[in-house]
Amino acid sequence: MQIKLPETQGSLFWETRKLALENNAIDMSVGMTEFKCPPRLVELASSYMLENTINYAPLEGIISLRERISESVQKNYGKFYHPESEITICAGMVQAATNVITTVVNEGDEVLLTDPSYFTYNQAIRLNGGMPVYVPLKEPGFRIDWEDVRKMINSKTRLIILNSPHNPTGSVFGKEDLLQLQRLTNGTSIYILSDEGFEHLVYDQERHQSVSQFSQLAARSFIISSAGPVFHINGWSISWCLAPANMMAEFRKVHENSAFSVATPFQYALASYWEGAQELEDITEFYHGKRNYFNRLLKGSPYIIEPSQGTYYQLINYKNLSSEIDTEFSKRLIHEARVAATPLSLFMQKKRNLQYLRFCFAKRNETLEEVAGRLLEFAERIGKMN
Ligand SMILES: Cc1ncc(COP(=O)(O)O)c(C=O)c1O
Repeated sequence: MQIKLPETQGSLFWETRKLALENNAIDMSVGMTEFKCPPRLVELASSYMLENTINYAPLEGIISLRERISESVQKNYGKFYHPESEITICAGMVQAATNVITTVVNEGDEVLLTDPSYFTYNQAIRLNGGMPVYVPLKEPGFRIDWEDVRKMINSKTRLIILNSPHNPTGSVFGKEDLLQLQRLTNGTSIYILSDEGFEHLVYDQERHQSVSQFSQLAARSFIISSAGPVFHINGWSISWCLAPANMMAEFRKVHENSAFSVATPFQYALASYWEGAQELEDITEFYHGKRNYFNRLLKGSPYIIEPSQGTYYQLINYKNLSSEIDTEFSKRLIHEARVAATPLSLFMQKKRNLQYLRFCFAKRNETLEEVAGRLLEFAERIGKMN
C-alpha cells in the first residue's frame, strides 16, 4: 500500500485523552464541554426520531435550517447568503474544512496557514496533493505578521486558511487583519477558507470580524461554522459552509462524495429550536464568565496567563516552573497533578519549545476550582523541588 500520510502517527490528541482516563485525571485537553444542551432541543430531536419517517436529508441540508443560518448571518454581519444556493449543511467542521480543501486544492498547489493551527487542515491539504506553507504566529499574542504572508504568496498559492477565533491560541484577528488579507488577495485567484466555528465566543467587548463583512473577501471565501459550541451539541456534528453560488456548486459535488446526507433528525430539531432561541446572545457572556473565573483562580500563581480573546481554550505558560518540553510536561501533569491539557506543540509544524499547554474551560465551576487547586498544589510541590 502506498501510504498517504507517512508523517502522521495516529492521533496524539486522543492519546492525551486516553492517558487522562487511565490516570483518572480531569481532562481539560480535548474540546469536550460539561454542559447539557437545552432540554427542548433533545425533546425535538427525539420527537423527530419517533416520527420514524426519517430519511435522508437533501444533499445541501434541509431548507429550514439553511434559512435559520442565513438569517443569523444577515443579522450578525449584514451579509445575505441565499439559503438555496449559498449554504450547505455539513457533518461537523472537519468535514466542512476538508471538503473546502478538496474542492480547491490540486496536486502541487500551495496553501498558506498559520503555525500553530488546527491539525486536520495539514492532513487534508496533503491528501489532496497540496503543500502546506506555514506562517508563524508571533508572540506576544500569537499575531499574524502580514509582511510574512505577503512574502509567502506566489503563483502556486491556491488557498489561504484563516481561523478566528483561533484554536489553539485563543487569538482573535481584527478588522485590520482582514483588511490586510483583502489587500493581499485582491487581484489574485486565491481562495480563502475562513474557519469561524467559534464566532460567538469572543470576549472583552470585542466583536467577531467575519470575512462575510468584507465584500471582496466574501467573494473568494468559503466560511465554515458550527452549531456545536453555541448549543452545547459538539457531538451532533452539525456545521455549515457559506460561499458564493458558483463556488458552492463545486463544493456540493465534493460534499456528495464525502457526506451525501447529514443526520436528518438533528437538522430538523435545530431548525425548529433556533426560531427565537436566545443562545446566541447568552453564550458569549456564559463563556466570558468561565474564562474570567478560571483565570482568576490561577491569578498570582507561577502560571503565566494571557487571557484568551476567544474560543473556550486558554493557553497557560509554565516556564516559571519547568524548562521541560510541553509534551513531557503535559505527561507529568497528568501523572502528578491528575490534570490533562494539550501541548501546544501538537498543533505546530515547526516545533519551538514555547512551554504552553492548552486548557478547555468549557467546564462547570466546581471542575475549574478542582483543576486550579490541583495546578496550584503541583506548582508549590515542584517549586520546592527546584
Ligand atoms: C478551529 C476548529 N476547526 C474545526 C474543528 C472541528 O470541529 P468538529 O468537531 O465540528 O469537526 C474544531 C474543533 O474544535 C476547531 O476548533
